[in-house]
Amino acid sequence: MKIDVLLGLQWGDEGKGKIVDFLAPKYNMVARFQGGPNAGHTLEFDGIKHVLHQIPSGIFRADIKNVIGNGVVLDPVILKKEIEGLEKYNIDTKANLYISKKAQLILPTHRLLDAAYEKAKGESKIGSTLKGIGPTYSDKIARQGLRVGDLLAGNFRERYEELAEKHRTILGFYNYPLGLAEAEEEFFAAVEFIKQFNIIDSEYLVNDAITSEQSVLAEGAQGSLLDIDFGSYPYVTSSNTMAAGACTGLGVAPGNVGEVFGIFKAYCTRVGSGPFPTELFDETGDKIRKEGNEYGSTTGRSRRCGWLDLPALKYAIMLNGVTQLFMMKADVLNIFEEIKVCTHYKLEDGSVVDTLPFDIDAIKIEPVYKTLKGWHTSLENIQDYAQLPQEVREYVDFLEAELKVPVNIISTGPDRTETIIRGELVTAS
Ligand code: GDP
Ligand code: IMO
Ligand code: MG
Repeated sequence: MKIDVLLGLQWGDEGKGKIVDFLAPKYNMVARFQGGPNAGHTLEFDGIKHVLHQIPSGIFRADIKNVIGNGVVLDPVILKKEIEGLEKYNIDTKANLYISKKAQLILPTHRLLDAAYEKAKGESKIGSTLKGIGPTYSDKIARQGLRVGDLLAGNFRERYEELAEKHRTILGFYNYPLGLAEAEEEFFAAVEFIKQFNIIDSEYLVNDAITSEQSVLAEGAQGSLLDIDFGSYPYVTSSNTMAAGACTGLGVAPGNVGEVFGIFKAYCTRVGSGPFPTELFDETGDKIRKEGNEYGSTTGRSRRCGWLDLPALKYAIMLNGVTQLFMMKADVLNIFEEIKVCTHYKLEDGSVVDTLPFDIDAIKIEPVYKTLKGWHTSLENIQDYAQLPQEVREYVDFLEAELKVPVNIISTGPDRTETIIRGELVTAS
């Protein structure tokens, strides 16, 4: 059976965690393929809200294997805390959590390097979550990183020292204060702790699932507009957040990818620096932030808010080969009498385009908006698509006509139950 991929089409925080948890019962396995603890995936059910950073969002469903793939960068300290946090829910992480030997390890010095690089950038900082993501992927590409499988070897401490020493030299160059003793103690305690879990060659587990007709859902982190190649570079994360990343991040051949689920909010948000053509600096932006509770799940930072951006969405759909769209947070727009959608960009030279310019950060872009009628009513307790206000359905029809991909889920609240399936939701084929 082919694997399905679920990923964010904007700048992250689209609601991936909620939908992975919702869809998980249809699958035998949920697998994260990139990113690390920079992710914050929120799930809500039975009145409890959970935020997962590294553990896949299928963990609350019984009998599903949850895999942290080779494309992930893993912080053992954060993983230990996450696993301990799940203990009170009686989740059998020892049975259901699998960690790739090839996932790269985030060291305490990687976090310091992240902070040192950001500080040195001053005004032009990326707005990183400071979890050590960039420096860890840099070491992977420089072929000097440490991997989860390495911590099982007898000389792990030595190899750690070797790499940490290189980092200390760089930190010295940046005059960055070290103070590592406590963090290192915590790191080695966490390393011992995670040794009790299933540390495996996950590419075999995933491919065995594919050949034995088991269904797999690959869970993306961040969003396509933060992709290292196609995002608004340099204001991006350090991994391929797109569908192609699921192939390299899990060891799955492109021909074994089935459905690609693209998740987007009914508007846009971004946390951290970088271009955001439809950003609203006015009262409307504040209203979206308040209604959508747009504060980061990982850092608590206030998210920048704006109207939906179709050129950016079309770009993400193209890059990912999205087969089905899921629209999140429709309820956040309940308060508006009118809703705007950016259909084109007007550039400085007067041209009007619906593609993303290379120098998107350097040039002035004026969004061209289409105004649609708002529904201005609550969507609470609506379970059927047909019962949604006509204006919601018109909004969805308009987006489908523009994007040429069916919108098969409409999310109307953070809870698992606040999810409307529309049309034929195809999974695992
Ligand atoms: P992720 O990183 O893509 O998993 O998304 P986050 O968890 O960072 O952010 C999404 C936020 O929106 C979380 O607080 C969710 O509980 C919440 N959320 C998800 N879907 C909906 C929805 O349809 N309506 C509302 N109001 N909130 C939602
Ligand atoms: P989820 O999976 C939103 C942003 C950061 C920063 C840039 C680089 O929850 O959607 P990094 O820590 O990777 O060096 O930060 O990317 N960013 C996210 N924004 N959601 C995320 O993850 C993010 N992960 C990173 O704010 O702008
Ligand atoms: Mg998030």
